[in-house]
Amino acid sequence: MKRRWFFASVLFIVSASLSLAFSSYSLPNSVTLRSLAEKRGIEIGAAVAIPPLKTDPMYPQLLASQFNSASAENVMKFEYLHPQPNTYTFNEADTLVDFAKSHNMTVHAHVLVWHIQLPKWLTEGKFSRDQLITILRDHIHKVVGYYKGKVQAWDVVNEALNDDGTLRNTIWLQGIGPDYIEMAFRWAREADPNVELYYNDFGADGFGPKSDAVYNLVKKLKAKQVPITGVGLQMHVGLGWAPPKRDVIANINRLGDLGLNVHISEMDVQTYDGARTEEEKLQKAANIYADMMSACLSNKACKSFTVWGLTDKFSWLPGFTGKPNSPLLFNTNYRPNPAYYALIDVLQNK
Ligand code: XIL
Repeated sequence: MKRRWFFASVLFIVSASLSLAFSSYSLPNSVTLRSLAEKRGIEIGAAVAIPPLKTDPMYPQLLASQFNSASAENVMKFEYLHPQPNTYTFNEADTLVDFAKSHNMTVHAHVLVWHIQLPKWLTEGKFSRDQLITILRDHIHKVVGYYKGKVQAWDVVNEALNDDGTLRNTIWLQGIGPDYIEMAFRWAREADPNVELYYNDFGADGFGPKSDAVYNLVKKLKAKQVPITGVGLQMHVGLGWAPPKRDVIANINRLGDLGLNVHISEMDVQTYDGARTEEEKLQKAANIYADMMSACLSNKACKSFTVWGLTDKFSWLPGFTGKPNSPLLFNTNYRPNPAYYALIDVLQNK
């Protein structure tokens, strides 16, 4: 009996706080980002952190009601999946994959080849070219094979380019040479014949030397029949530095013309400067979100729009920038920011 009361009160508290959180909605409950995105034929995603998914009751509720795609914010990175040379740990990533499955969401797996969040055994080891090739090939075969049929897409290579368009000097470039990029795509395809394979980068969303370099890179990969499905435009932007909508549209168009999909893959908007009051900042951020969603909707090649976190409470940006921030669609109390309504409006009316 006691147990039953306990669960009843927990249920009551959770639903009461949910209705409180959403009390400012002027929308019927059935109108969500998820329902509208599904009508428009695009995916709407959020990067997911595992601790709040497990412990913060609002988090899974909001995630599954507003989004139909989940990206792994950290748990599919090399250091998490492969912490020792012969040890793979899939538990946390499995939590995400299981959650997505039970809520009818797709998983965007992130990431196979990056220069950050690598385990020490890898960064501090001394390996010959052949050894590094074997390490990367085995890693990709193992994890892509493990999630075969369970995830919709993999970010295969992340952030391989510098701002000036040259190749970034990473452990992979140094140890293997520029071919590591196409090798990685081919190994991923060997391990799963159907999963979508993406090149993902930041600062290449509109026009400039870096977005030209991404374009040239993926064009070359296509010409060499390297199995690539599309490009992720990360869209980590700020109030003072967001690309003009027309440039993003033109960039999506030229990538689409190569026969590639485009994802807006990690959007957030840094808000710590560029406007006076908090309200003005949030409104400016909302306008940027609206522009980028409408750029995505302008071309069928753009299939997915993902934000890098569910709520400001768990955004990586305050820690990363050392500045206060309201970069996401929901604030620290899980209440919608103006950006949420801006996306609803674009999905509904534009
Ligand atoms: C970030 C995560 O959000 C942080 O929690 C982590 O400490 C560092 O990485 N580009 C990417 C993502 O491709 O993997 C990064 O995620 C953000 C920038």
